[in-house]
Amino acid sequence: MISQNTIQQILSRIDIVEIIGSFIKLKKRGTNYLGLCPFHNEKSPSFTVSPAKEIYKCFGCGRSGNSIGFLMEHEKYSYVEALRWLAQKYNVEIEETETTPEQKLQQLSADSLYIINGFAQKFFSDHLFNSEEGRDIGLSYLKERGFREEVIKKFQIGFNPEARDSFAKAAINAQYNIELLQKSGLVAVRDERPVDNYRGRIIFPVHNQSGKVLGFGARILKTNDKAPKYINTPENEIYVKSKILYGSYFARMAIDKADECLLVEGYTDVVSLHQAGIENVVASGGTSLTPDQLRLVKKYTNNLTIIYDGDSAGIKAALRGLDLALEESLNVKLVLIPDREDPDSYVNKVGPAAFTQFIAENKKDFILFQLGVMLQDAGTDSNKKSAVVNQVAETISKINKAEDFTKQQDYIKQCAELLKIEESGLHALVNKFIREKITKEETRVNREVAGNQLTENRQPVEIEDDAAALLNKDEPHERAMVRSLLEFGLKPWNGEQRVADHVFTEIEVNQLEELIDNKNLIALLKIYKTWYDEGLEPTAKTFLYHEDNIMRSLAMAVMDYNYEISPNWKDVYEGKIESREDLYKEEVFSTLNYLKLRKIKRLIYENQRDLEKTQSSEEQMVLLQIHQHLKQMEIDLTRKLGTVIFR
Ligand code: CTP
Ligand code: MN
Repeated sequence: MISQNTIQQILSRIDIVEIIGSFIKLKKRGTNYLGLCPFHNEKSPSFTVSPAKEIYKCFGCGRSGNSIGFLMEHEKYSYVEALRWLAQKYNVEIEETETTPEQKLQQLSADSLYIINGFAQKFFSDHLFNSEEGRDIGLSYLKERGFREEVIKKFQIGFNPEARDSFAKAAINAQYNIELLQKSGLVAVRDERPVDNYRGRIIFPVHNQSGKVLGFGARILKTNDKAPKYINTPENEIYVKSKILYGSYFARMAIDKADECLLVEGYTDVVSLHQAGIENVVASGGTSLTPDQLRLVKKYTNNLTIIYDGDSAGIKAALRGLDLALEESLNVKLVLIPDREDPDSYVNKVGPAAFTQFIAENKKDFILFQLGVMLQDAGTDSNKKSAVVNQVAETISKINKAEDFTKQQDYIKQCAELLKIEESGLHALVNKFIREKITKEETRVNREVAGNQLTENRQPVEIEDDAAALLNKDEPHERAMVRSLLEFGLKPWNGEQRVADHVFTEIEVNQLEELIDNKNLIALLKIYKTWYDEGLEPTAKTFLYHEDNIMRSLAMAVMDYNYEISPNWKDVYEGKIESREDLYKEEVFSTLNYLKLRKIKRLIYENQRDLEKTQSSEEQMVLLQIHQHLKQMEIDLTRKLGTVIFR
């Protein structure tokens, strides 16, 4: 983990104009900078960078965020990668915090797996080329299938001998730990003896983005109905199937250059196409694409072309995951290889040029293709047909990025034609799905930001009248308080204290739950306090760049909060229109006291309910005294307040 101290240093040097300016051309317009949006196609610039707010916003496609968000989106960096990039740019030395023993163990295990896999890969390659068995059985098989040595070496393909434990022996001799060997999937223990898992198989190593071996696919040589054709590495710390695309290490440059990624099913398809000079190709391993795999593709290109065998059982499964590709703005095309061939056999049969031509001429749009398949399935059944219409509308509704608008209109037109229905009807249906989705999304975001998902355990407060309901819901006051702390926390409060000191003497950390409902705001305040006590100087920016997405959205929401000084207030200051900056002490004071006032109002309300319920006159007396006391507090506070409104 990068230390908070380092992050602070990086943040203090960030210049959003400089950062974004190193990727796109920006021109100064007033206080902002303007350029062509890198996230959608546009001719006139609507991409705005505000150095004051330290955010960018595109008025064309609606994307917005801060410097780190930009790097994450534009460069496809993770949060930590973006920080490292910035650290390098601004010459900040990275200080790592202590990792927990658990993390260390995990890291250790992952590192060891990479090392074992590296050892195994060399062992298998060595056996393929340098042992008699490897050459006679493995290499001759590969050559018979048309694979040349250079491509075999490039993909580091190898061979595991038939003997029961040749690899296991070598690994144990080399001091590799048996538990890790089992975890790697290379070795199993049978009758208390270590045995090889991939005996007599051709071995395809699976590489990560930087060329390290994550695991293996081991193909059987003999035809044997009992044994599986491929044995793959089991899931472990480094081999996570849903995140792997076979061949991506060798394909990334070519994908970038062609601005297209070809997706095939199998290991041999990738290797054969490479040999034929078609290098922008990866394999999914015959299962439907996962969101992580789609994201991997999207790092390099927006154009995904899926090449499957015509009779592939996997094709419907593959289609299923693809709505997600549309949401990610990927253009998905589909080609089916004819005559019971697969890409490997087909390219060997017709040659590279004819193969490329076939793909170019036969790629079909995914949505139209899917519609074709569904219509065929539905036949003349009118119920099934209307289900198809719904399905298509839902699929089209997934294309919802502003920049894809014309694409969406085109689909509606083409699909309506194929379905023989009114274009406007389909249009309305698509819109219905979009609306439904937005509503769902809003509820989810609200919940996340309001922290409701964390408050499930809280006792529900019974609400009996509107006033109480209002009191329970006035999160604006909570946000306003947090905002004033984020904005003014480091400013002086009085001769001895800064605003933050004052806030945390007024409300102690263990009282936060009583004053504030939103769990995420409480979490934010606690983080603030910890950092502040450690001598870091937290600001809004610290949270806008926080590693936790919820904290980032929360800080964004809080800072965006609509806050207005009431006319009443202006009267007090007799026409001098002062900015919030000048009035920060009043703001801190009033936001803090509003929370207290709310707390008092709640107590009064609860007290009143107790009063109504109680039969004993003694108890009534006590409750009445409490009531008077609370009322007095309320009056005092209200007197001090009442000049600021929040909306
Ligand atoms: N696959 C698998 N396990 C199996 C069968 C297949 O993991 N038992 C995966 C492999 O990634 C394989 C892909 O699905 O590469 C496609 O399977 P298939 O078409 O049967 O194999 P090919 O790759 O075409 O292998 P070959 O050309 O050697 O038959
Ligand atoms: Mn094949």
